[in-house]
Amino acid sequence: MTNPLTHPEQVRQSRRVERLVVGKETSDGAGVKLTRVLTQPLQRRLDPFLMLDAFGSDDPDDYIAGFPDHPHRGFETVTYMIAGRMRHRDSAGHEGLLENGGVQWMTAGRGVIHSEIPQQEEGVMEGFQLWLNLPSGDKMAAPWYRDFPAAALPRFVTDEGVAVTVIAGESHGIAGAVTRAATAPLYLDLHLPAGGRFTQSLPPGHNAFVYVYRGEVGIAGDAVPVQRMAILANEPAADGVVIEAGEDARVLLIAGQPLNEPIAQYGPFVMNTDREIYQAVSDFRNGCLLG
Ligand code: FE2
Repeated sequence: MTNPLTHPEQVRQSRRVERLVVGKETSDGAGVKLTRVLTQPLQRRLDPFLMLDAFGSDDPDDYIAGFPDHPHRGFETVTYMIAGRMRHRDSAGHEGLLENGGVQWMTAGRGVIHSEIPQQEEGVMEGFQLWLNLPSGDKMAAPWYRDFPAAALPRFVTDEGVAVTVIAGESHGIAGAVTRAATAPLYLDLHLPAGGRFTQSLPPGHNAFVYVYRGEVGIAGDAVPVQRMAILANEPAADGVVIEAGEDARVLLIAGQPLNEPIAQYGPFVMNTDREIYQAVSDFRNGCLLG
């Protein structure tokens, strides 16, 4: 891989860990086992992010049934597949295959009905689905989606050997696959070698968290073990985050600009008011929720 021209991120003071969160084991779709890392009670704290699910299993019974036809309205879903193959189809006639290292970014807007079905009968299925809110003015916009195969995702390696995939936002001068003006999401997958250190500047007002899915990292003196989410404190004096790895580690670093709007959620619909939720449910029942 040729390394694109990067410039180092300067961080004078790292954010601290405000809180470590253990995900909740649950199942969704037609019985897919997963860990809900970012749950509903954290939506206000981590605005504009609504949910983060981690799925990972080598037992087909945990994933084989997939997610048959279901609707979404009012937000965006970002699916990052570390290992495995999943086919998605939606009501607008779109279809795509998400596999090994690829990302699907879907803006549900006013509504889509889609399915996400594993395309394997054995082996490891591992990945993440992040839900990113839309500002009120965009919740009823036309749906949109794009598949990014692994090779199409911007990547670079720092001088310290940290391999970075930039799914959204910008890191070390490298623009990510997707940018969004209202929520300014940053979504990085970091592979840190033992002894590696990664710096990322972050606007103090943006909400940010780290999820460790291999190994363990340290942030401002606190250890963040595997399968933990560290919510990073919003301190006016901190201008970013410094992540250090004593052993090989893989982490997601996610940050965004809060919308500070009311959040009304009913399952796969996320709007601003209960009235809009009733409308979404009614539109879905009447078959009017088509992309
Ligand atoms: Fe979905």
